Amino acid sequence: MSRSTPAILVTGAAGFVGSHFVRTLLTGGYPSLAGARVTVLDKLTYAGNLANLDPVRDLPGFSFVHGDIADAALVDEVLPGHDAVVHFAAESHVDRSIKGAADFVMTNVVGTHTLLDAALRHGVSPFIHVSTDEVYGSILEGSWPETDPLQPNSPYSASKAASDLIALSYHRTHGLDVRVTRCSNNYGPYQFPEKVIPLFITNLLEGKKVPLYGDGLNVRDWLHVDDHCRAIALVLEKGRPGEIYNIGGGTELTNKELTDRLLAACGATWDSVEYVEDRKGHDRRYSVDWTKIREELGYTPQRDFETGLAETVAWYRENRAWWEPLKKRAAL
Ligand SMILES: NC(=O)c1ccc[n+]([C@@H]2O[C@H](COP(=O)([O-])OP(=O)(O)OC[C@H]3O[C@@H](n4cnc5c(N)ncnc54)[C@H](O)[C@@H]3O)[C@@H](O)[C@H]2O)c1
Repeated sequence: MSRSTPAILVTGAAGFVGSHFVRTLLTGGYPSLAGARVTVLDKLTYAGNLANLDPVRDLPGFSFVHGDIADAALVDEVLPGHDAVVHFAAESHVDRSIKGAADFVMTNVVGTHTLLDAALRHGVSPFIHVSTDEVYGSILEGSWPETDPLQPNSPYSASKAASDLIALSYHRTHGLDVRVTRCSNNYGPYQFPEKVIPLFITNLLEGKKVPLYGDGLNVRDWLHVDDHCRAIALVLEKGRPGEIYNIGGGTELTNKELTDRLLAACGATWDSVEYVEDRKGHDRRYSVDWTKIREELGYTPQRDFETGLAETVAWYRENRAWWEPLKKRAAL
């Protein structure tokens, strides 16, 4: 980045992962980014919540712009004067993409292209494109290196894969400093309660049943959001232009094993579990090989799953005022 105290445009930071990144950055959690200023650009969809940024909203380095990343005129106005982009904004829930994919294509594909185009015109880079391991598809054994082909199965992952390819094309064609990250499943505080971990925790806290898809044997690698965001900060600090970095190293669990741990953490039993029809096209297992980011950038996950999950359950227990209105509004 060109300045020692850079200005960073962070899209989608009223959501789960982006808000964690901004809260950590502005409270000194990334020494290499100390003193950086942050502009958050967020449309505040159902998943965006300004309260997620409450702990940092009054800090001098913070500013907020309410708007859509697919609005080219707005992006053109906001982007100049920044030294980097960290792009989190997306429609992110697979189940919603199965019901209707138009918003996914609009935000994830068209919105990402709009940002890239403006970044190129105004010479703003590095551009960190935050993507997901879901772009690789499903893998029964072993792990995907960054060189594996993309075989996404859901409209969500397909829209993310499309945006990854457009982002990388801006590097290869135009020389824009684009860096792509692909992380496994995150958990932690402030995650919208439609996603499996907060949905199960909050249902159990409300004395409701939890819906377990299919045979419950789908496998995910659960990584604390803090580890994901630290990896993104490392990619911003010292990643290489045009490179893809997988981020993983969490705890691999079947959904049944995850449910077992959540039931125990919330003091419930298997009587609270209801098996429901499997998600259409449900990927069986995700697993990224994260050797590259470990060897090149020195990333290692630091959050132990057991402690992280206990802290997450405690956070939802103590913050009912945060999630109760969200669940009500989303009819969850
Ligand atoms: N949560 C995970 O487990 C995970 C794992 C790997 C990668 N990712 C990626 O990280 C990013 C953030 O995920 P998340 O879980 O925080 O999502 P989220 O749904 O919690 O938040 C998305 C944010 O983007 C905003 N947004 C949506 N459309 C927008 C638009 N058109 N213009 C501006 N803002 C818009 C929303 O208002 C919201 O604040 C996504 O790109 C996702 O693909 C997430």
